[in-house]
Amino acid sequence: MINEKLQCLFLSGAQLNRIAANFFYQMTAALAGKKSSLKILSSYLPAASGAEKGHFLALDLGGTNVRVLDIDLAGNRQLKLKRKHSFPLKTKNIDYTAHDCTGEMLFDYIADELAGFVEPKQTYLLGHTFSFPFSQQRANEAILSTWTKEFKTRDVVGYDVTRLLIQALERRGLVQITPTAVMNDTVATLLAASYQQPYVTIGSICGTGHNSCYVETKEQSNVIINLESGNFDGIPGTAWDKLLDSNSAQPGAQLLEKQVSGAYLGKLVGLIFDELIRVQAQGRDHVLSTQGVSLTGEDLSRILSAAQGQEISKQLLSHGVTLTADDCSLLQSITQAVVVRSARLAAASYSGILTHVDPNLDAMHCIAIDGSLYEKMPGYANELCQALSEIYGDKSKNIILKLVKDGSGMGAAVGAALSC
Ligand code: GLC
Repeated sequence: MINEKLQCLFLSGAQLNRIAANFFYQMTAALAGKKSSLKILSSYLPAASGAEKGHFLALDLGGTNVRVLDIDLAGNRQLKLKRKHSFPLKTKNIDYTAHDCTGEMLFDYIADELAGFVEPKQTYLLGHTFSFPFSQQRANEAILSTWTKEFKTRDVVGYDVTRLLIQALERRGLVQITPTAVMNDTVATLLAASYQQPYVTIGSICGTGHNSCYVETKEQSNVIINLESGNFDGIPGTAWDKLLDSNSAQPGAQLLEKQVSGAYLGKLVGLIFDELIRVQAQGRDHVLSTQGVSLTGEDLSRILSAAQGQEISKQLLSHGVTLTADDCSLLQSITQAVVVRSARLAAASYSGILTHVDPNLDAMHCIAIDGSLYEKMPGYANELCQALSEIYGDKSKNIILKLVKDGSGMGAAVGAALSC
């Protein structure tokens, strides 16, 4: 009974092919300037050659923590992280992602943290990874189109975040820092990977958010394009997906992301669990619920890797929920189904992009991926690989999946180097 209920989360190989074909179709429409759930956002940056050189500051803003990094590019495909500092956007007193906070407050906070990180007498060129949809006319401009990932900070949408950053740096007297490029995290991931190796075609994030970019080779443009693929809407959705969507900050938007990314998977698992536990607990006098417990991506990792139900119980107990052994195995099955679906959907979207770039998959393609889901969720990378081999058969050997740790931070330095 429970397994039947979970069956709707399973995507067959044929369904993956249909989703990939729809993705390709919507990408073609977006490229032709027609209506599409995908965007074509030029980064004004090419893939890296690996010869770029110098010392750069990187600012990585896009999740619950902001990071600043000090990076050396040696010019021989070697990049070295010298120092890094990470700080949260939700502090004890202020939530910088909330609506009662303004862009000015957010960037003043970032400038304060930068002040503590840089050497007072040194000058820096800065690359800025800003992991949201924005449009630009040059590499050093980013006009935020809309917030995603439940960010709500006021007075940023419609503004150029590079200007907001520069103004905050000036207010703080940090004139020795010069921002030279701003890029999406997918673009930064592609840049970090292409700095280290050839054939990088796609950059992707499978973490708190989900999105992909690719290198457009038509007419030798070689420019990296952000697709904002998290907004792709050509996917089947279950009643649970619809419920999650209608309770979200932006119903109807970011549908692929809501089925793929870590920010939503925990909520989805909680929702499904709350319904199925009632089915399973028939006759039991009290029915527990995870309502109010927000499972994080890390919780899901632990749920999946826990060898015994007991460990999962302990896990949820720390959230104030007590589970029986049956409840634990239900939770594990739900988590497994949701995580596998996420990986298969990501694979289908990559296939849609590859159809545009190389319809017969004749050449080698490296897909560079950063993000906690891909890096840490048990079985995730394998499921993605497995889905690609279902789609391509033998030819899937032309696809290399590369984990790019810290890609969104490291790539900002490469972007800064490319733009000066
Ligand atoms: C969201 C953002 C996108 C970003 C992704 C991963 O989908 O809209 O720009 O790349 O999250 O962080």
